[in-house]
Amino acid sequence: MERTSIRLGGVALNSSVMNASGPHSAERGEILELSARHNGAIVFKSCNIAGLEAPENLKNRGVEHFAGIARELGARGKPIIASVVGASEDEIVTVATTLDRAGVKIVELNLADDYVQKSVAPFASLDRLKALIGRVRGAIQATVAVKVPPRMEYAPRAIADLFKSLGVKIVVCANDLPKDLEIDLATGTVTGPARTLSQTHAFHQVSEGLLDLVAVGGVNGGRDAYIAHLTGARAIGIGSALIKEGAGALGRIDRELDELLAARGNASVNDIIGAVRFSG
Ligand SMILES: Cc1cc2nc3c(=O)[nH]c(=O)nc-3n(C[C@H](O)[C@H](O)[C@H](O)COP(=O)(O)O)c2cc1C
Repeated sequence: MERTSIRLGGVALNSSVMNASGPHSAERGEILELSARHNGAIVFKSCNIAGLEAPENLKNRGVEHFAGIARELGARGKPIIASVVGASEDEIVTVATTLDRAGVKIVELNLADDYVQKSVAPFASLDRLKALIGRVRGAIQATVAVKVPPRMEYAPRAIADLFKSLGVKIVVCANDLPKDLEIDLATGTVTGPARTLSQTHAFHQVSEGLLDLVAVGGVNGGRDAYIAHLTGARAIGIGSALIKEGAGALGRIDRELDELLAARGNASVNDIIGAVRFSG
């Protein structure tokens, strides 16, 4: 859909809608199905060097499995976002380097998962975070994305400024909007005083146009995607809806978003990113 085309971290994508890392993105067959049924980017499940049997949410076949699929899809021009975990800084750098050499366009460091937080502890201090990301940035050509934990000890501005200084271009954030949010989609106006609505919105407020945000969490339809865009997301990750509905969920949400944009006279999703207003 032309209206939902974006550039994410400088990478041209046919759609702002993509899968979130994990659901429907671990096995070759399900990745190829996603790729065939939606023309946006493909996000791989997080992987480490040798693969994991546990924890359940990080079960994966190891980086070579994903590097092979990246070479196959890359040859067909499919933009790939590959997600990295590891139990040490060295492992994270090795996995990122392997995926980079396989031609992925964007390497996403999954620093949100407990597995990484408990082993590497990237957020133990800002110096530690800087050292890890700096090493990855120096080792790869691909655009660097970071998936941040939903809750952090640091203010979004401190993290955002560090990311900007290190050349991180994309932050994958929680789309943790309040459940009782009242919003008029026709005008993009939220009822009540100006306030920060979600982690994505918080990062948008300090991004200065230098960080592109991917909002992940609770997006089940075009309306959810539209609101995530209004609150600052450049792209949207779909998790649970893919599990419930299968690969068709991405195309459906993309179409619904496109229809909402058309109904409001927006030629491009870019026109609504971060455009939320408050009734005061
Ligand atoms: C079964 C399952 C596996 C997941 N695996 C990963 C993963 O490997 N890497 C990652 O960054 N997030 C993973 N996630 C988190 C999702 O990317 C996403 O953040 C989460 O599902 C919230 O989005 P949703 O509300 O659309 O489901 C996983 C989630 C689920 C349900």
